[in-house]
Amino acid sequence: MEKKNKTIKLIISVLIIAVSVLLLAGFLGGKDLMYHLLNRGDLGPLTREDIRYIEAETPEATSKDGTVNSADWKETYPEIVTTMKDNANNYTVVSYLEQDPYLVNVYEGYGFAKDYGSARGHEYCLEDVAKTERPHPMANCLTCKTPNFAKLVNDLGVSAYTMDFADVMSAMEESVSCYTCHGNDAGNQGKITITHSYVLKALGDNADTIDAATLSCGQCHIEYYFTPSDKETMMPYDSVEAMTPEAILAYYDSMVMPDGTVGFYDWVQESTGAHMLKAQHPEMETFLYGRHAAEGMNCADCHMSIEMAEDGTVYHSHYLASPLDDPNLLLTCAECHEDTDMTDFVHRLQDKITARETEVGNRLSDFKDALAAAVSEGAASGEELDAVRKLYREAQWYFDFCYVENSEGAHNSELSGRCLDLAEERIAEGMELLGKE
Ligand code: HEC
Ligand code: HEC
Ligand code: HEC
Ligand code: HEC
Repeated sequence: MEKKNKTIKLIISVLIIAVSVLLLAGFLGGKDLMYHLLNRGDLGPLTREDIRYIEAETPEATSKDGTVNSADWKETYPEIVTTMKDNANNYTVVSYLEQDPYLVNVYEGYGFAKDYGSARGHEYCLEDVAKTERPHPMANCLTCKTPNFAKLVNDLGVSAYTMDFADVMSAMEESVSCYTCHGNDAGNQGKITITHSYVLKALGDNADTIDAATLSCGQCHIEYYFTPSDKETMMPYDSVEAMTPEAILAYYDSMVMPDGTVGFYDWVQESTGAHMLKAQHPEMETFLYGRHAAEGMNCADCHMSIEMAEDGTVYHSHYLASPLDDPNLLLTCAECHEDTDMTDFVHRLQDKITARETEVGNRLSDFKDALAAAVSEGAASGEELDAVRKLYREAQWYFDFCYVENSEGAHNSELSGRCLDLAEERIAEGMELLGKE
């Protein structure tokens, strides 16, 4: 009895000391202690295992088209709704055309030569598509901006893509939101639902080979084209194996256009006569061939930090941050990168890729000028010019695949480097045919 009392006293004393130390450290350390508590000290950062997934009833949709929107989910998931709205905090835009003036020359004759700004937070999707100076003749431009358009396609089928842009735009209610990645089913433990129909059309059963969280982003952060017949948004591959820049180029090269010519193109460039391709933002393709996908990681692992609310709720922040801007996310890198200064590591790698981009981009612009000059001089035969046009189309494609990928080499520096190598090879070959180098 005596012994038991002593043990209890000892435990209580230890507890009191521990709590005092914590309180004192909190008083002196302030935010620092909070930070360590959030990340559970030696236990490391919060993980999916700490999330308590719930089954919640789907609230009644207040939207006109039946999509359950973020406001509808506010009571069930206040933190998720708030953090998703925080994407409005990412609002700066850099003009790529001012930053890299050679692009204006390379994209000549296409909308991107007029207006091409960097991406910003999801909250701005609708605003930015409305105000771009690039032309948007039909509603298909809304594919990657709003759940309301995905719903329209799901309701009407492919005819939605060719509807008038302005008419459809006026009925759009939200930028990227819950329905985009969860359908109306977010209450079902936050299960991912792919709502963009072309993803499943293109990939079929192979969609299952991609982590759902990655594919949720891969509904938009991908290379895509509009089918010549229906102007339907489509992915140029049917499996992960066919997502390399080389395989996608081969896919475009072998497509039969409505007029019977072979080879898909986004535009015909007047000064060179070349059939040109514009790459979009192949984040998913680039990532899937990189080191982290091989490690079994998904997009959420680095772009959605796992946080704890004051009441103890653990959840994925839906603020899609750069991991370098979020101490919580940076902490997760240490599991494999140990004490590497990740910001420095990533920036160095990006600096290397962007420096080469500038070099190759300027050379591509010179190549274009040389080809345009040969076309206007008229000394070379049509066949000779076509051979150079093909090299120019390919060089621009490989260059673009690297340039427009938003991580600037961080997702997969090997692939980015390979694209620049391939572009350089095509430029050198073309210049030689033109007798320039
Ligand atoms: C751009 C895609 C996207 C949007 C938009 C989105 N989510 Fe998520 N959501 C995800 C991903 C990815 C995960 C994490 C999946 C995983 O565990 O890897 C997730 C997880 C969840 C979870 C599971 C719990 C958790 O925190 O992991 C819930 C619940 C959820 N989301 C609700 C919502 C609600 C409500 C909205 C709208 C306010 C929303 N989501 C908007 C992609 C999205
Ligand atoms: C419905 C299409 C769509 C989906 C799905 C989507 N995005 Fe986006 N995302 C966009 C668009 C469009 C932009 C650019 C918005 C703008 O600039 O107006 C963007 C911008 C971003 C940005 C900001 C880029 C920058 O340079 O600041 C990040 C980060 C991002 N998305 C990450 C993700 C992640 C991670 C997922 C999956 C969880 C995801 N997105 C899912 C369409 C989408
Ligand atoms: C291993 C971590 C990691 C994974 C996994 C990852 N990314 Fe990234 N991502 C990064 C880093 C690092 C950057 C560069 C951030 C910077 O420049 O500040 C980046 C940049 C981006 C950007 C540009 C936004 C910005 O703020 O610079 C987008 C968009 C993006 N990633 C989307 C995705 C998508 C979509 C996936 C999944 C297909 C994905 N990422 C998977 C680490 C990751
Ligand atoms: C599960 C293990 C794992 C985690 C977690 C992880 N990485 Fe990596 N990462 C690797 C491996 C393996 C490599 C390849 C070897 C190397 O370069 O160290 C790599 C390489 C990289 C590269 C170079 C990629 C390239 O293609 O050159 C970057 C950038 C990177 N990691 C960023 C991050 C960031 C930022 C985080 C945290 C947000 C992170 N990693 C988390 C395993 C991981």
